[in-house]
Amino acid sequence: MSSNLTETAQPMLSELACCIECGTPLRGRDRCPGCERAYETRDDITQAIGPLRGRNGIVANFYDGPGWVRFRKWERLFLTLQGGARWARMSILRHLSALDRSQARVLEVGIGDGENLGFLPRSWTVYGVDIARTQLLACRNRFPRMKGRLAWAEAERLPFPDATFDACYSIGGFTYYEDHAAALREMRRITRAAGPVVVADETPGLHRAGIGQLIGRPALDKFWLRQLGLDAEFVDMVLQYDVDLRALTDQVWPDAARRPIWNRLGYCLIHPDPERSPSTMSLS
Ligand SMILES: C[S@@+](CC[C@H](N)C(=O)[O-])C[C@H]1O[C@@H](n2cnc3c(N)ncnc32)[C@H](O)[C@@H]1O
Repeated sequence: MSSNLTETAQPMLSELACCIECGTPLRGRDRCPGCERAYETRDDITQAIGPLRGRNGIVANFYDGPGWVRFRKWERLFLTLQGGARWARMSILRHLSALDRSQARVLEVGIGDGENLGFLPRSWTVYGVDIARTQLLACRNRFPRMKGRLAWAEAERLPFPDATFDACYSIGGFTYYEDHAAALREMRRITRAAGPVVVADETPGLHRAGIGQLIGRPALDKFWLRQLGLDAEFVDMVLQYDVDLRALTDQVWPDAARRPIWNRLGYCLIHPDPERSPSTMSLS
């Protein structure tokens, strides 16, 4: 059981991982013993990714490239306006607080460069996956303790056996995942029964409040989003795409809670709903 281990005794990610093709546990090997698929570890990061489809390709290009670097200051400003990074992030991370404060094995999906790690108890062992390799490298460089705890992998195909983690969370990025239902199912699958799974992002369709939409000139929104530093193909994706959260959770997580965050500019999905299962989710 993860809860009996100290952080240093916690296994490396490659020891926990399984094959994304056939599900066979890798047990630290760099080739699947079941189907022979390669799982190279490069720069302390396990490579468990296939060809990216649709939006995931566009998103990975954005976060791997200069667009995210240009846009980052606007994200920081947004969080400052929401009461500061700690306040804005803890409004989501607090839903993990039912975990044992001293020991927990936790996965962050879409970990980026690790911005949330400083807000979690140091005694927890956090692992991370992301589709942008540049972000994983930045996370490893920023937090040396993440060496061997990161995988280049998609939310939709998590390279872990069932119930590997005590909790799983994702902050930012979810709205543009290629396959939301697959990602939610995967996050639930790799988390132990009743362990919290928490997903937060900005409210879908915010772009409909753009001045261009309001005055009937959508091209104007494209222009100012480009001025914020976003890549052209990323902007096109943002302006064309919405996710219906209610339909999604009704389909995949009917017993999840959906809470507004960030003055209703964001949402937080919590599964299972802490109000429906108070014994497993009470705040410590
Ligand atoms: C806005 S950043 C958030 C980073 C970090 N979680 C934070 O709170 O600062 C979104 C991250 O999600 C990653 N991402 C987007 N789609 C993904 C997917 N389908 N699977 C895994 N990671 C994904 C991006 O590459 C990016 O690093």
